Amino acid sequence: MTKKWWQDAVIYQVYPRSFQDSNEDGIGDIKGIIQRLDYLEKLGITGLWISPVYASPNDDNGYDISDYQEIQPEYGTMEDMDELLNEAKKRNIKVIMDLVVNHTSDEHRWFTEAKKSKENRYRDYYIWRDKPNELTSDFGGSAWEYDEVTQQYYLHIHSKKQPDLNWENPKVRQEIWKMMTFWLDKGVGGFRMDVIDLIGKEPENLITKNGPMLHPYLREMNEQSFGQYNVVTVGETWGATPEIAKEYSHPTRQELSMVFQFEHINLDKVQGQRKWDLKTLNPAELHQVFSKWQVELGNEGWNSLFWNNHDLPRIVSRWGDDGEYRVESAKMLAIYLHGMKGTPYIYQGEEIGMTNYPITEISEVDDIESRRMYEERLCQGYAKESLIKSINAKGRDNARHPMQWANELHGGFTKGTPWLPVHKNSHTINVENALADSNSIFYTYQKLIALRKENSILVEGDYQQIETGNPVVLAYLRTDQSTKWLTIVNFSKERNSYQLSQKYAVQEIVISNYEHERTHLFSGKLEPFEAVTVVV
Ligand code: GLC
Ligand code: CA
Repeated sequence: MTKKWWQDAVIYQVYPRSFQDSNEDGIGDIKGIIQRLDYLEKLGITGLWISPVYASPNDDNGYDISDYQEIQPEYGTMEDMDELLNEAKKRNIKVIMDLVVNHTSDEHRWFTEAKKSKENRYRDYYIWRDKPNELTSDFGGSAWEYDEVTQQYYLHIHSKKQPDLNWENPKVRQEIWKMMTFWLDKGVGGFRMDVIDLIGKEPENLITKNGPMLHPYLREMNEQSFGQYNVVTVGETWGATPEIAKEYSHPTRQELSMVFQFEHINLDKVQGQRKWDLKTLNPAELHQVFSKWQVELGNEGWNSLFWNNHDLPRIVSRWGDDGEYRVESAKMLAIYLHGMKGTPYIYQGEEIGMTNYPITEISEVDDIESRRMYEERLCQGYAKESLIKSINAKGRDNARHPMQWANELHGGFTKGTPWLPVHKNSHTINVENALADSNSIFYTYQKLIALRKENSILVEGDYQQIETGNPVVLAYLRTDQSTKWLTIVNFSKERNSYQLSQKYAVQEIVISNYEHERTHLFSGKLEPFEAVTVVV
C-alpha cells in the first residue's frame, strides 16, 4: 500500500470556543485560530481538527447543528472559514471538519418542518413512533420525546434538542453527501465523524451502536462523497472492537481511514457502569489493551492514538500526576503514545500539560452531560460529594476551560469575560512559559512529531509487547527491516525496577524525559514516570 499523507501526520484538535478569542466577547473564534496558526506550525502538526463551528443553538456546544453550511456568528463568517483554510494551507496544515450527522439540532429547518405534520415532506428525515420503548439517552433518561402537535415521539440518543436523523431514508443520505461535497470542494482535509457508529441503528430492536446498515452506509458515503478526494476520515466509535475497527479501516474496504476506539478510555470505570463510576487505572491492563489494538490491527486497519479530546478529562490529571511530577508524567504519557503505530491526536493544551479544573458546586458546570447526570443521580439518592467527585474526575468541562497562552489576564485567551473561567494555574502553566523553557513538555511533543515525519519505523514498523517483570513498567519494541526501537516507561509515581528477558545493547537515545548517561540506561531501575525510547 502506498503511504497516505495522514499516516505520518499528527493531528491537533482545537475546541474553537476555548482556543483564542479575537474580539473580546469571551468566546473563542475562527479569527483566533488563524492568529495561532504560527504556533501550531511551530509545534509541527499537519492536521487540524476543529470541533463544530456551524450554526447551532449551542445546547451541546455546537454538536447540535441547525445549518451545516453556515458558520455560527459567534465564531465568525464563511469568509473567516475560507481564510482559515487558506492560511492553514500556507503552513502545510489540513483542516479537518467535525461531521455531526447522526442527529441535527431541533432548530434545523428539516426538524422544524418535520414537526409540523405527519405529512410534511421532511417528516421521514427523523424517527417517529406512537409509543416509546426502553431506549435511553446517552445523556440520561428516555431517548424518546413526546411532541404535542402530531402526538408522536421522536428519537434522540443525546439531548432532546438533538433529534436523530433517519438514515434509512435515502433522501437524508443524499442531503448529507451533498453537504459533505460542499465542504470537500472548499478544500477541507477530511472529517471527524461524530458518534458515527450510531447511524445504522434499529430502534425497534433496541439496537443503537453497530447496527446492520452501518457499514453499507459508510461505503455509500465513501463512494458518493469523499472517496475521490485525498482526505482523512476518522469515525468516533465508542462500540468498536479490533474486529469492528478493521471493517471500518481495512484499506480494501473503502470506508474510513481510521476510528477512535475507546477501550483504553473505559479502563478507569467500573465495568458495565457509566464513566462516573470511578475505578483506579491498572497500568498493566492499559498496556494489554494498547498492545492488543497494535497487534490486531496490524496491516489490516489503522489505529488512531489519543489520550484526550473535548469530552475527556486532562490526561496528566487523570493518569499522570498534576502535582510534583506534572512535567515528567506528561512527557512519559506522550512518549508512550507517540511511539506506537497509528495517527496521534493532540488536544489543545495537552502539549503544555494543562490540568483538570476542579469545582465544588454544580453551578460552576456548563456541560450538559455532567449537569444531567447530577440531577438524575441526586434524585436517585447519590450523595452530592460523590457526584462532584465524579465530575471532577470525568466531567467534560475539564477539557473545555480556555487555552492558557500567557501569564496575563485570563491566560491571554480573551480580554473580555471568558465564557468559562480560565484555570488559576495559567500563571505558570501557559504557552509563553513552555516556549521559553527548552526542557518543557511542548518540546517533547515537538520532537515526537518531528520523529514521526523522519522515521518510517514509527509509521510502518511492527509492534511487539515486551515483558518487564513489573506490572507498572510498560515496554514495547518497534521493528522494521533494519532497525529496532525499544520504548520503556515507568507508569508510576514511585521508583521502580524491572528486568527484560533479553539483553539489549543501547545504540542511541531517541527521546527521554530524564537526563541520563547512556551507560545508566537499562540499569534495571527507573525514576518516577521515567520514559525512554532507544535504538537497540
Ligand atoms: C460526540 C461528541 C460529544 C457530543 C456527542 C453528541 O460524542 O464528541 O461532544 O456531545 O457526540 O453529538
Ligand atoms: Ca470571540
